[in-house]
Amino acid sequence: PRPLVIAPSILASDFSRLGEEVRAVDQAGADWIHLDVMDGHFVPNISYGPDVIKAMRPHTTKIFDAHLMIAPCDPYLEAFAKAGCDHITIHAEAGPHLHRSLQAIRALGKKAGVSLNPSTPASALEYVIDMIDLVLVMSVNPGFGGQAFIPSAINKIQDIRAMTAGRPIDIEVDGGVSDKVSGQIAAAGANAFVAGSAVFKGGTVESYKANIDAIRNA
Ligand code: DX5
Ligand code: ZN
Repeated sequence: PRPLVIAPSILASDFSRLGEEVRAVDQAGADWIHLDVMDGHFVPNISYGPDVIKAMRPHTTKIFDAHLMIAPCDPYLEAFAKAGCDHITIHAEAGPHLHRSLQAIRALGKKAGVSLNPSTPASALEYVIDMIDLVLVMSVNPGFGGQAFIPSAINKIQDIRAMTAGRPIDIEVDGGVSDKVSGQIAAAGANAFVAGSAVFKGGTVESYKANIDAIRNA
């Protein structure tokens, strides 16, 4: 089985103190730092881009797990690689050439991920399964933090678990993740947990640590 990973989403942090917030979740026990990039086109919100990620990079040595909610993505992949992203995850729905975009990410020497919106079936992965290091199952409609977990994600995780059996592929879940649902998510076969609002509540390193531990131990 793949190692259990907690990936706090910086989207829920205090953007006026990004460097401090990255250091705080690092100290609190984060395994990866999840970076939500939104373009106001693929999703109805705008967040931050490669320059802001580059500014965060010196504040931790943990894995930068970028989640690109942008279309098109190809023109920006190199910029995210150069900004220090270790994982680059793109959406299966973001363009007609998923296979080519995954080739481009791997050619940049980065781990390649595919994210699936709540309405997209696991079968979208079938012909790219050899090209991916990570699957990101959206358990909310992407664009905003603080939404409720969509229960149908559980069946999809089980489907993906069967498809990826025996392969070194992380299954990551994103949206509405808290200690209330992390147990059933793990039982379904996912190993990586993204959480924004559930990690950043409390505002201190101590509270972030308690929040991360609660998700991990549930
Ligand atoms: C939503 C993002 C998520 C978001 C999760 O589009 O992909 O990573 O930050 O936030 P919570 O954990 O609050 O649902
Ligand atoms: Zn995300």
